[in-house]
Amino acid sequence: MDKIKFVKADIADRKAVFELFETENPDVVVNFAAESHVDRSIENPEVFLVTNILGTQVLMDACRKYGIQRYHQVSTDEVYGDLPLDRPDLFFTEETPIHTSSPYSASKASADLLVQAYNRTFGLPATISRCSNNYGPYHFPEKLIPLMIANALNNKSLPVYGNGLNVRDWLYVEDHCKAIDLIIHKGKVGEVYNIGGHNEKTNIDIVKTILKILDKPESLITYVTDRKGHDMRYAIDPTKIHTELGWLPETMFADGIVKTVNWYLENKSWWEKIISGEYTKYYEEMYGNREELK
Ligand code: TYD
Repeated sequence: MDKIKFVKADIADRKAVFELFETENPDVVVNFAAESHVDRSIENPEVFLVTNILGTQVLMDACRKYGIQRYHQVSTDEVYGDLPLDRPDLFFTEETPIHTSSPYSASKASADLLVQAYNRTFGLPATISRCSNNYGPYHFPEKLIPLMIANALNNKSLPVYGNGLNVRDWLYVEDHCKAIDLIIHKGKVGEVYNIGGHNEKTNIDIVKTILKILDKPESLITYVTDRKGHDMRYAIDPTKIHTELGWLPETMFADGIVKTVNWYLENKSWWEKIISGEYTKYYEEMYGNREELK
C-alpha cells in the first residue's frame, strides 16, 4: 500500500500541480483526470472545458518545467463522433476524423489536439489512448451500468433513454489499465492508440442482463426522453494496439458484468454514501423532468 500516495487536488490548479511536481518529481504522468459524464456536460459545459482542457495544459506545462520521461493522455472514442446502426462493418480507427457531438467529447478532443501540439511544438514525449466505455468496480453511479445496478437493488425504475437501441463497446476497467501500462512502456511517442473492441451491446441488452443477474423484474425498466444529440453507436477497431503492442482484452463481458454486479453488492456502503447527499440533488435535476415514453 505504501507504493501509493493519494493527493487530492484540482489539475486545473496550477499552483497545486506545480508544487506536487516539485515535491514528487514524477518520471511518468498519466492523465486519468476528467469530467466524463455526457449528461452533466449538457447541463453545465464550463467545468468540462476547465478541467479537461485547461487541466491538461497545466499538467503538460508542469511536465515541461520539471522534466518527464513520458506523458500519457487518457482519452475517449467519443472524439470520433458516432457510427450509424445500419453499418456494422464500420469501426473507429486512429485515422477516423475527429467529429464530436457533446460538450464532453468536444472538450476531450480539444485536449487531444493540445497534447499533439505540445508533442510537436515542445517535444513533450506524449502518447494518447482512446478507449471505449469502461465498466467495473468503483464506477461512479451516474453512468449507465452502476446507475442501473443501484436502482435495481433499490427497486427504483431504470431510466433507459429513447428506445434503448444505442450501442456501446464495453471494456473491463482492468483490461483498459493493462493497455495503458503497455503503451507507457512500449508505445511510440507521438502516437494514438485505440483501446477496446468487439464487445458491442445495446443499452437495453445491458439493462436486461443486470436485471437477470439480480433476479429483478423487467417491469422496472422505464423508457424516458432521449439524451440531446445522443450518439448511436461506438465501436473500436483495436488492430493497431493488438499488432504493435500485443494487447487484447482478457475479460469477456459475460464474466465482467457478473464480477461488477457482485462488487456493487459487496460494496454497498461505497455507493450508498455517494447516492445520498449531493448526488440525490443531481439525480432529481437529471431525471425529475424526464418524460416517460409510452
Ligand atoms: P453513459 O454511461 O453515460 O456513457 P456514454 O454516454 O459515455 O456512452 O451511457 C451509456 C449509454 O447508456 C448511452 O447510450 C446513454 C445510455 N443511458 C441511459 O439510457 N440511461 C441512463 O440513465 C444513462 C446514465 C445512460
